Amino acid sequence: MSSDTEQLLEETDLRPLWEVEKSMGNVYDDVQPQLWQWEEIQRAIDSIEQDVPIEDLPPGFQRRVAVPINVGMENAISNTIYLGVQTVSPGETAPSHRHGANALRFTIDGHEEMKTVVAGEEFPMRNNDLITTPQWEWHDHVNDSDETAAWLDVLDLPLVLDSLNATNVFENHELERQPVTKTQGYWDSQYGQARPAGESDDGSIPGPFEGNCAPTPPYRFGWQETLETLHQRADNDDPDPYDGYSMAYVNPNTGEPPLFPTMSFRAQLLQEPTDAHFHNATEVFFVIEGEGATHVDGEALEWGQWDIFVVPPDTPHHHEPDDEAILLGITDRPVFEAFNFYAEADASE
Ligand SMILES: [Fe+2]
Ligand SMILES: [Fe+2]
Repeated sequence: MSSDTEQLLEETDLRPLWEVEKSMGNVYDDVQPQLWQWEEIQRAIDSIEQDVPIEDLPPGFQRRVAVPINVGMENAISNTIYLGVQTVSPGETAPSHRHGANALRFTIDGHEEMKTVVAGEEFPMRNNDLITTPQWEWHDHVNDSDETAAWLDVLDLPLVLDSLNATNVFENHELERQPVTKTQGYWDSQYGQARPAGESDDGSIPGPFEGNCAPTPPYRFGWQETLETLHQRADNDDPDPYDGYSMAYVNPNTGEPPLFPTMSFRAQLLQEPTDAHFHNATEVFFVIEGEGATHVDGEALEWGQWDIFVVPPDTPHHHEPDDEAILLGITDRPVFEAFNFYAEADASE
């Protein structure tokens, strides 16, 4: 190119395609296979707790959360999924607020008296319960037990904030604890077996957002029921070659996965090594119980209970449990499927 052309292009903020093309797909950092051991996470949280009084933290962030940051990323575990490990000490409250991002809690170390309050209802957080705190619903966390509770926060923040550059509208409640206005079991009763008769059947829940996807209601998936579905599957059916005995959490509004328009969640019971495959969606795993390894592009990520690991897009991987193991699988696959862009292939050869 002549220097005249180069200068003209520079002055006009235009660039030829052959140059632009080189940088396409490289704007975001590359997610790497990586594992965080529970022991390290626990040490980090304990250290934060001793160092930083929670009341010194800025309003809206008065919470003790350790966030796994992928070695190839700046602020999250992946380009689409944010995951944090949060603890709340006895007597503490994580103050009430609401936001545009989809979120859920998966209880690691819970208690009947550790409660997430969502849209007026108290949901007890027993071990391995999954509780949705959907878009724009008030939520706070109240530890009325005498033990420190820990759970996973999973949100679609990197997708919303970094990839789409959308505003995650965020609002603090005027009260630290929102009023409990519903009896326990209300949300389950309205979105489990039955629907309120006479109301619109488009599944709309009041909120500031519009879209094509049915909103996810506030909901608690109790672990005992989930575990029973996994065992029934294992006792009666063949495993998925790549994911073992795998049950996807449904959006109670539709009765079908994905749980959120942006993220899908599975409970996976592994009894034998799986076949290798790869796909363009990212997978983040939390080890609910058991030990084993996940082989990612030749690298063995060896895991035990409560470890967290990530499998990057387009990377061959398979699981090898030592004995029986259960994983929580989290994926951004619904985003790819929404645009007819999901691709997956066997890699067992
Ligand atoms: Fe939140
Ligand atoms: Fe996979």
